[in-house]
Amino acid sequence: MKKGKKVDINYILTDTVVIILMILCTFLIGIFIMDYIGAYKMGLKWLYLSVQVQILKRFLFRYILLEFLFLGALVYSIVMYLTRKGAKVNKKLAKFIRNNNFIIYETINKRKKIKDKADIYYILKDDYLIINILLHGSSFDDKLKDAREKIEDIFATSITAMSVDFGKVSYEIAFNAFYRLEAIQYIPNKILLDKQKVWDYDHNPHALIAGTTGSGKTYFVNYLICNLIYQGADITFIDPKFADIKAMGEIVNPLKTACEENQIARLVREFSETMVERQKIIADSGKVNATYRDFNMSPQFLIFDELSAFKSTGDKKTVTEVEAYLKKIILMGRSVGCFVILIAQQPNATIIETGIRDQLGLKVALGNIKEELRRMMFGTDIKLHTLDYRLKGVGYISLSNGEPYKYYAPNLGAKFDFIDEIKKLSCNCDSWKKRPAFLVERFNWCSCGLLDVYPNIMPQRKEKTMKNNRFKRIEKEEKKKEKNELK
Ligand SMILES: Nc1ncnc2c1ncn2[C@@H]1O[C@H](COP(=O)(O)OP(=O)(O)OP(=O)(O)O)[C@@H](O)[C@H]1O
Ligand SMILES: [Mg+2]
Repeated sequence: MKKGKKVDINYILTDTVVIILMILCTFLIGIFIMDYIGAYKMGLKWLYLSVQVQILKRFLFRYILLEFLFLGALVYSIVMYLTRKGAKVNKKLAKFIRNNNFIIYETINKRKKIKDKADIYYILKDDYLIINILLHGSSFDDKLKDAREKIEDIFATSITAMSVDFGKVSYEIAFNAFYRLEAIQYIPNKILLDKQKVWDYDHNPHALIAGTTGSGKTYFVNYLICNLIYQGADITFIDPKFADIKAMGEIVNPLKTACEENQIARLVREFSETMVERQKIIADSGKVNATYRDFNMSPQFLIFDELSAFKSTGDKKTVTEVEAYLKKIILMGRSVGCFVILIAQQPNATIIETGIRDQLGLKVALGNIKEELRRMMFGTDIKLHTLDYRLKGVGYISLSNGEPYKYYAPNLGAKFDFIDEIKKLSCNCDSWKKRPAFLVERFNWCSCGLLDVYPNIMPQRKEKTMKNNRFKRIEKEEKKKEKNELK
C-alpha cells in the first residue's frame, strides 16, 4: 500500500525556498511577456526605476496594469500555497514530531545531525486523511504506537479507523462524514454499518446500542431491523417502555412482541428454548464445527430495549430469570444463530455485567455519553472527543472488542419511512422463500395488493403474472372457439 507523502519537519525552510522560486518565476515570466508584447526590447531593464517611470508616463494601461496583474497572481499563489490543507497537516505532524521528541540529534565534528527520527507519512484526499507511522525499532516506537490520543488532539477530531500491521501504524480520519451511508444497502448475512464497516453477526455476535435520549438509537435499530428482515431473520421485540420497539414489533411480528413483565419472561424463555432445540439438532447431527447456517436455519434476533427499565420495575424473581436466559443466549447463541441486541440509555455495570459486555461483538454509543460510561461500555481508558450535539446518529463504535472509533450511523433522511421499507422488503421475490412465515402472512403481496402499490419493486414478477394472465385468457378464448366449432 502507498505510504504517502513524508512529513517535512523543515517546512519553514522549504516554504521559503518555494516562495523565492515563485517570485523569481513570476518576474522572469513577467519580463518575458512584457518584452514579447512591448514596443521596445528592454530585457532586465524593466526592473530599473527610471524605466518604470518611463512606462508609467507613456504606457500606463499597457504595462503597469499587466504588472499589477502579475503581482496579484503572485500574492494569491503565495497565500494559497501557505494555507493549503496539506501544509496545515504537514505543520501539525511536524510539530507533533518535534514537541514529543520523536527526533534525536547527535553532534559529529561539531556538526549537528539527525540520529533518529519518527518516520511519518500522510495521504490527504478531499474526504479523508491517512497517517502512516513506520516503526523501525526506534526508542520511541512504543510511544508512537500509543499516539492515538495525541493525534486526535492535534486534529481536534476522532479517528475513524486504526490498524497496526507489518511495521506500520495507520490512523484514518474521515472528514465530512465521508463513510456515512445515505441510502439503505443490503448484503447477504451481514449488515453494512457504513461504507467501510460491516457487522458480521456470525463472527461478532450480539450488540449493545447506547446513547442519550434523541441521539438516534431507535433510528439505528430500525435500520438494523430492515437489514435483518432482508436476511430472513426471525425477530423478537421486547420493549418494557411501551415505545418505539413495541410499535415496530407490532408491525413486524405482533406474536413476538412483549412489553409486560410476564410476556417478556415468556418470550425470552421461548427464545432460549429455541436455542436449546437448535443446539440439540446440531449436536445430534454429529457434525464438527457446524453452525446453524449448515442446517439452513434462519438467524433469530432478540431486541431488548432498556433492560434497566425492566430491571427497575420488574418482580425480582422474573428479572433474575430473564437475566439468566439472556446471559445464556449471549454466551452460547452464536453458533446456533441466536443473537441479542440490547438498547440502553445508560449501560452501566449494574445493567450489563463486564463479563457479558465483553461478549457483545458490536457496541455503538450514540451522542455524548459520560466518560465513565464510555469506559464501562468499551473497556478502554482512551479519552473520546466531545461530539457535536446537533448531529444525529453520530457516536463511537467498537467491533469485536476493538478500540472505539468515531462513527456516523446511516442517515437515510429524517423522513425515511422504515415501515414502508419493511413492506417493500416483504414484496421482494428474490428472497421471498427466505421470508419468515409471519411476514409472508402479514405482507402477502398478492392478498394485500402491494404489487399495485409498489409496481416497480417486482417488475419481473409483475411481468410474469401478466404473462400468465395473458396465457389464461388465450386458453379460455381457444376453448370457447373449440366449443363453438363443435356446436
Ligand atoms: N442516523 C440518523 N440520520 C438522520 N436522522 C436521524 C438519525 N438518527 C436520528 N435521527 C433523527 O433524530 C430523531 C431522534 O432519533 P431517535 O428517536 O432514534 O432517538 P433515540 O435515541 O431513540 O431517543 P430516545 O432515547 O428518546 O428513544 C429521529 O426522529 C430522526 O429524525
Ligand atoms: Mg428511541
